[in-house]
Amino acid sequence: MSTKDSFRAPKGTADLLGSAAAGWDALQQTARRVFARYGYAPVYTPVFEHTEVFARGIGEATDVVGKEMYTFTDRAGRSLTLRPENTAGVVRAAIQAHLTDNGQTAKLFYAGPMFRYERPQKGRQRQFYQLGAEALGFQAPAADAEMVLMLRDFYLTLGLTETRGSASLAASPDNGNLVLLLNTMGCAQCRPAWRDAMAGYIRAHADGLCQECQRRADTNPLRALDCKNPACVDIMAGAPKLADYLCDDCREHFAQVRALLDAAGVVYQLDPTLVRGLDYYTRTVFEFQVADGLGSQNAVGGGGRYDGLFEQLGGSPTPGIGFAIGAERTLLALEAAGIILSDTNRTAVYVACADADLRDTAFLLTTALRAAGVSVVCDLQDKSLKSQFKAADKAGAGHVVIIGADEDARGGVTLRDMQTKTELFVPRDELLAALTAGDSEN
Ligand code: HAM
Repeated sequence: MSTKDSFRAPKGTADLLGSAAAGWDALQQTARRVFARYGYAPVYTPVFEHTEVFARGIGEATDVVGKEMYTFTDRAGRSLTLRPENTAGVVRAAIQAHLTDNGQTAKLFYAGPMFRYERPQKGRQRQFYQLGAEALGFQAPAADAEMVLMLRDFYLTLGLTETRGSASLAASPDNGNLVLLLNTMGCAQCRPAWRDAMAGYIRAHADGLCQECQRRADTNPLRALDCKNPACVDIMAGAPKLADYLCDDCREHFAQVRALLDAAGVVYQLDPTLVRGLDYYTRTVFEFQVADGLGSQNAVGGGGRYDGLFEQLGGSPTPGIGFAIGAERTLLALEAAGIILSDTNRTAVYVACADADLRDTAFLLTTALRAAGVSVVCDLQDKSLKSQFKAADKAGAGHVVIIGADEDARGGVTLRDMQTKTELFVPRDELLAALTAGDSEN
């Protein structure tokens, strides 16, 4: 690699600058607000774990573990891996902290970067950002329904809308832009028989299937349902259906989840081919997809139940369910839908100084406004008044407070409304009230 390339962000990573950084912030704020209404508390786990956590948790035969992990050996010879997702890490942390011992439950949410060595394209990166939630210790179908409702609530709060019909229909503006897919994966009792039937089906149809799917007969037959190769899609349409193998408990569980979602007015599509890419799933799985502009990377978030994961990671049997939201894809979906997130980090006020002798006065006024809770900046570079106005524009300030010799002599400032371009004189002791007037209406 040339030196020039070494000093660029690595392939598949991106610097979050400007609107990308503000977008990630806005998603986190929305998630915090929405998830808090459902009783979730934050959790932050290390960005790297012992490799075993992911190998055991996600499954050796998955693409994520087999092909996509950033694994390295540390100086003491330990095998560590940058987290490709956060469910395994959160469950590892919950076991370690005894959060779910003696039938206790925990509702946890997280936000942060994940790492997968994938082929980068629009909506697919090697370092990407997820927001996620995990409900630990909950067995009842109501937990599944609440999880789906919370994820839907997040997207609807952002301004996306549900659609009736397939993902390809979702592009039409009057038909919403989100499709919710729902399926059940069965459990440790009923899935093995389906898995065997799938392996048999793949072997019987091996001639027409791609090499990868042929291999899957031995490694992970259910993943053949996920193959995008048109010939495989055709053949797999006739594959054995889990519905014919589900045990009574799984059937009843799924029926109750659906009944609750129906009663709550959630629009979804049953999709028996939705198997998701991680091996820990049991029973309910779900995914939100969008049509607009994301091509095959149209899954903006998804999740499911993982009732065997605690045991895989050395814990006692404990049910769990959760989801993760892809931040980049959600932001792309919002952009495609023409939704602009309000930037709460925006500077509200710019203090401009019209007289070099009053720079300290401007500085101290800025400090006083800040102490009173106003988001305010002033010039720190001895700029001309014209340049200060340009800076105020660039910062997106709604008001400019101008301090000049005249104003100072009269004990006040000129307050310029940047939208209406109107100016008025305001005495110093009325400035705060003038700047915050109307705040409570928003
Ligand atoms: P996942 O489906 O692998 O699930 O990822 C969740 C979301 O992360 C995807 O729907 C997608 O939006 C985003 N995503 C995944 N890979 C990439 C990538 N390379 N670039 C950009 N975005 C990406 C999980 O990770 C599970 N941990 C979800 C879960 C939580 N299940 C139960 N609890």
